Amino acid sequence: MVQAIKWVDEIVPGAPYVTTLETLDKYNCDFCVHGNDITLTVDGKDTYEEVKAAGRYRECKRTQGVSTTDLVGRMLLMTKAHHSNIDEDLDYRKHTDNFGKGPKGHSPWTGVSQFLQTSQKIIQFASGKEPQPGDTIIYVAGAFDLFHIGHVDFLEKVHQLAERPYIIAGLHFDQEVNRYKGKNYPIMNIHERTLSVLACRYVSEVVIGAPYAVTADLLDHFRVELVCHGMTEVVPDKDGSDPYMEPKRRGIFQLVNSGSNLTTDLIVQRIIKNRLEFEARNQKKEAKELAVLEAMKKLEEEKQPGSPQS
Ligand code: C5P
Repeated sequence: MVQAIKWVDEIVPGAPYVTTLETLDKYNCDFCVHGNDITLTVDGKDTYEEVKAAGRYRECKRTQGVSTTDLVGRMLLMTKAHHSNIDEDLDYRKHTDNFGKGPKGHSPWTGVSQFLQTSQKIIQFASGKEPQPGDTIIYVAGAFDLFHIGHVDFLEKVHQLAERPYIIAGLHFDQEVNRYKGKNYPIMNIHERTLSVLACRYVSEVVIGAPYAVTADLLDHFRVELVCHGMTEVVPDKDGSDPYMEPKRRGIFQLVNSGSNLTTDLIVQRIIKNRLEFEARNQKKEAKELAVLEAMKKLEEEKQPGSPQS
């Protein structure tokens, strides 16, 4: 998955948990980067102590409102409050003391908060490149929910179909996905799915809220030469018609075998099966983060003029 992220050049499988200067030198890295949340060793020491002391550490801000805890909460609670058009009053975070602990008493890193899509964020993730003459424009559509290795394998296979592919991924709106997947799907809303798919190196462009049926208008608008779908079921449109009728009629439709059986449903089932473990892990993680936060606050207070220690 990480290899498929377009900003990643090389992977070190099984890297040590604590990054040492020796590790950085071994892989010719100038510095080590981590988000601005705290990670600790078992003895409660900062994981990046050594690289920080050597001036070979950089930090970037964590994306607000995107956390594993929140995603797991959506799966377990079966809520739809995360869907992009949902009324604020229905937000489960205000009505539960399980995963959504409300504004008080949760860590800003592991806890939940609302993700807000901005044009800056999209620009940061987008390729910004238009298709060039000689590129083969390929269209794929779907939910791409909880963007996983099945999606990556599929997109990689599609990417191999042309010498210079320009892949456009059409993402269905939350209500559309909910119509054909049921339950509280999608787990990630359209904003979150957009960024996940844009981060993939095989994708050049995303249609945010693609129509379910791949129409003549859409194909002409983007000058699509090929439309692909994996081996997963194609659910008929509302009127019972095949959403790929037009590309099939034009003879530009191709089924692609990703070779992966992973689905969003399987991931959710796996997580529900392990729910107790997940809850315990998250509670422990959050308690640890809260303790660090308290300690940081105390240090700050002690630094203030007028405090007994100053
Ligand atoms: O299910 P979803 O709409 O997210 O799938 C998006 C595309 O990825 C579809 O073409 C689907 O067939 C493909 N896919 C795949 N192999 C998987 C999972 C999805 O080829 N394991």
